[in-house]
Amino acid sequence: MASNSMNSFSPDKPFVYQHSIMHPELQRLLEDNFNMVQPAQVEEYRDKISAIFCFVAPPVRVELIASFPNLKVVGNCAVGYEHVDVKACFERGIRVGYTPNVLNAATADMGWALLLAAARRVVDGDKISRDPSTEHFELNSFGFQVSGTTLGIIGMGRIGLEFAKRAMGFDMKLLYYNRSKYSKEIEESLNATYTPNLDDLLCQSDYVVLLAPSTPETHHMMSSPQFKVMKRSSIFVNIARGKLVDQDALVAALRDGTIAGAGLDVTDPEPLPRDHPLLTLHNVTLTPHTGSATLHTRAGMVQMTINNIWAALKGQEMVNEVKSS
Ligand code: DGY
Repeated sequence: MASNSMNSFSPDKPFVYQHSIMHPELQRLLEDNFNMVQPAQVEEYRDKISAIFCFVAPPVRVELIASFPNLKVVGNCAVGYEHVDVKACFERGIRVGYTPNVLNAATADMGWALLLAAARRVVDGDKISRDPSTEHFELNSFGFQVSGTTLGIIGMGRIGLEFAKRAMGFDMKLLYYNRSKYSKEIEESLNATYTPNLDDLLCQSDYVVLLAPSTPETHHMMSSPQFKVMKRSSIFVNIARGKLVDQDALVAALRDGTIAGAGLDVTDPEPLPRDHPLLTLHNVTLTPHTGSATLHTRAGMVQMTINNIWAALKGQEMVNEVKSS
């Protein structure tokens, strides 16, 4: 993927360790700015490396951070940074950049794609339409109504608000569970009702969309008790992080009809082991963590990461800096 060779490194550019690979067009952006050191080249350049470039995987662990004596900054090309050992960075005065906002719209779009695909059985429909043995279309195999139903959003932050805006077009009643309540003005503009009790949201919603950050407090926040409160006809969508969900409980809920279906852009781990039960369930629609995966959005994320790295190396204010671990 990377086109830098050891010979093309410029003495004027900072040396940045490439921990995650990037699309070739975006790789060019990185290489215009930095000497991108690949894992196979690391021994030769270890002492020169002042930054790590990473995406959501693989994790940036303490051992990696400790292995670069002159590291100044971790440029995390993602809004979520739970895969970066921020504490280990801060202990050495290493700054950490991340990329909020630029991906809000694309991620909300993808959440809707999953919700609609799961509700209206788009993947099944594609299979039936292509199947050589299909002789007539099965008109009694229904999906679920979306327009005019109730949507529950768990975690109404930047992406949650974008997701909520799109619900207006589907004439949905909106409930949200969040750390804080929005102003009356915002709530009215989104037809949104604050539900400080999660169960109240779960029992009323036809669609439950998870958009909370991954923190120790949100770990497995969706487990058996939560799925049991949901309507049997409801669909669960996760576009946040796999760790927020007790996956065994989700499998059980999908198997025994506690809930009707799920749309998952994220799992734990990613990818799932090939024999994982979630992969065998017909009422699950899966995508490979592609919430922000449009060229437009990823280009914005890479550019923001480049700006963050430059700012840190020059001792300036970063566009978006992680301030606490
Ligand atoms: C993020 O930025 O955290 C997304 O999950 C990946 O785009």
